[in-house]
Amino acid sequence: MSALAEKVAVVTGASSGIGAAVAEELAAHGASVVLGARRVEALERVCERIGRRGGKAVWIKTDMRDETAVERLVGSAVECFGKLDILVNNAGVGTVRTIADGRTDEWRMMLETNLLGTLFACRAALRYMLPQERGDIVNVTSAAAYEAWPYLAVYAASKAAVHALSQGLRAEVAERGIRVMTIEVHNVAGTDFVSQFDPDIAAEAISQWERRGLLRRTSGMLRPADVARAVVFQVSQPDPASVHHLTLRVRAN
Ligand SMILES: NC(=O)c1ccc[n+]([C@@H]2O[C@H](COP(=O)([O-])OP(=O)(O)OC[C@H]3O[C@@H](n4cnc5c(N)ncnc54)[C@H](OP(=O)(O)O)[C@@H]3O)[C@@H](O)[C@H]2O)c1
Repeated sequence: MSALAEKVAVVTGASSGIGAAVAEELAAHGASVVLGARRVEALERVCERIGRRGGKAVWIKTDMRDETAVERLVGSAVECFGKLDILVNNAGVGTVRTIADGRTDEWRMMLETNLLGTLFACRAALRYMLPQERGDIVNVTSAAAYEAWPYLAVYAASKAAVHALSQGLRAEVAERGIRVMTIEVHNVAGTDFVSQFDPDIAAEAISQWERRGLLRRTSGMLRPADVARAVVFQVSQPDPASVHHLTLRVRAN
């Protein structure tokens, strides 16, 4: 039997890209999944795909910047499936712009979605996980958090903050049965991530990343399913093993 059979998971940002793939992979391994995001039709489509393959999934419309909505999302795991075992904090957004040309609304969107949203979800999940003395939290970070990526500094800062909060949270809850893990990913194709990029700036940003060796498009890109398999690997480890931090890149980049 799969290590994930009978488990209940919440995946944020599950309407497209990595989050959708993670939800599908968890369900394929037998977990019941609650999917959160804002785009309802996309969430419906992912849930339908899971259902057609015999998996169990429900979706809850959620804006990660809305504390009450995030609490409702996490609580839905218990309401719909009776418990909460796994939280994957994947929802995230990034825009490209230099800090000198920075837009406060974009900064707020990135910091509130990527950082505050993750905090809201962690706190909500711990309300269930701490009393049961078990649970897995996986927070998705980015290579940008550990390298100097011009035009992505604010996004990178939000992901570096997620890494830092994950380490602190691990120290707070590991002895109470909770695993807190991070997965750092680099350049995943086939997601909607670049849809937030200003097209007037994206070309210059990408050429700078290539000049600095941060991005080598000829080396290929990861696929959402690659990340999903890695997340399933993390949450499938038998206790007390913990893949605290996993770095996932393509072989030659
Ligand atoms: N693609 C890459 O190269 C790459 C590299 C490193 C890290 N990452 C990280 O991987 C994660 C997934 O990104 P992706 O590449 O799969 O991009 P994506 O397809 O754009 O997925 C982002 C997800 O986050 C959700 N989201 C965004 N803002 C939200 C909000 N305010 N409330 C609720 N959900 C929100 C989106 O759903 P709705 O729009 O429906 O709300 C979507 O489901 C992100 O954390 C990203 O930072 C991606």
